[in-house]
Amino acid sequence: MLSQQAAHIVGDGLKANPELTLGLPTGSTPLGMYAELVRLRQAEGLDFSRARTFNLDEYIGLPADHPKSYHAYMRRHFFDHVNLAAENIDIPNGAPGIDVDAESERYERAIHAAGGIDLLIVGIGANGHIAFNEPGSSFASRTRVVNLAPDTIANARRLFESEAEAPRTAITVGIGTILDAHRILVLASGASKAGVVRRVLRGLVSESLPATALQLHADVTAILDQPAALDTPQSL
Ligand code: F6R
Repeated sequence: MLSQQAAHIVGDGLKANPELTLGLPTGSTPLGMYAELVRLRQAEGLDFSRARTFNLDEYIGLPADHPKSYHAYMRRHFFDHVNLAAENIDIPNGAPGIDVDAESERYERAIHAAGGIDLLIVGIGANGHIAFNEPGSSFASRTRVVNLAPDTIANARRLFESEAEAPRTAITVGIGTILDAHRILVLASGASKAGVVRRVLRGLVSESLPATALQLHADVTAILDQPAALDTPQSL
């Protein structure tokens, strides 16, 4: 349901504006949404040919063709299966040897040149991060290099062969970059997110819980599955 609803919001947005600019997350939460969008492409011909995409983040130190990079994730789950034009896809480049500060500036400029992000989709980390804006991130932050929080590193570590290989830094869009999007879609699934989702949607707005910044945005839709919604009252 969550995945179908999310995909339908993206699909409706695309039909209303074929030149829609999307902000895209990775992780486990949006996998079903990407699968549904691929199905809509194949079954109904949903057209991405004029859409643009900006991913929210990428690990630093992995070449784009590294199987655990977010570049590879996006190709595997989405880009290889829909008709997005290669030149309309952008992901921060965290490859070894890259000037990451210059890359962060390039990314902000590219988003600006595209006219901003129309529909930005985010997941929520167990520690309340959005994209890789970890607790303590400024709500005014822009695309930059960040140190990942210990629990984010531990989470990523499970996907990598060794401690040495697991990333500790990333390039991420900032919270300011996220709040500039015209519309935001928040996705959360599973009981492990119930506590953080309640604090994010109903708790005190604070930089110690970055996703609470979403309360400051005028057009946010949250799609939660039942286990993730368990702790969150429908209204106050
Ligand atoms: C990924 C990202 C992260 C994830 C978050 C939730 O691009 O920006 O903020 O959205 O860590 O991850 P999952 O969905 O794996 O629980």
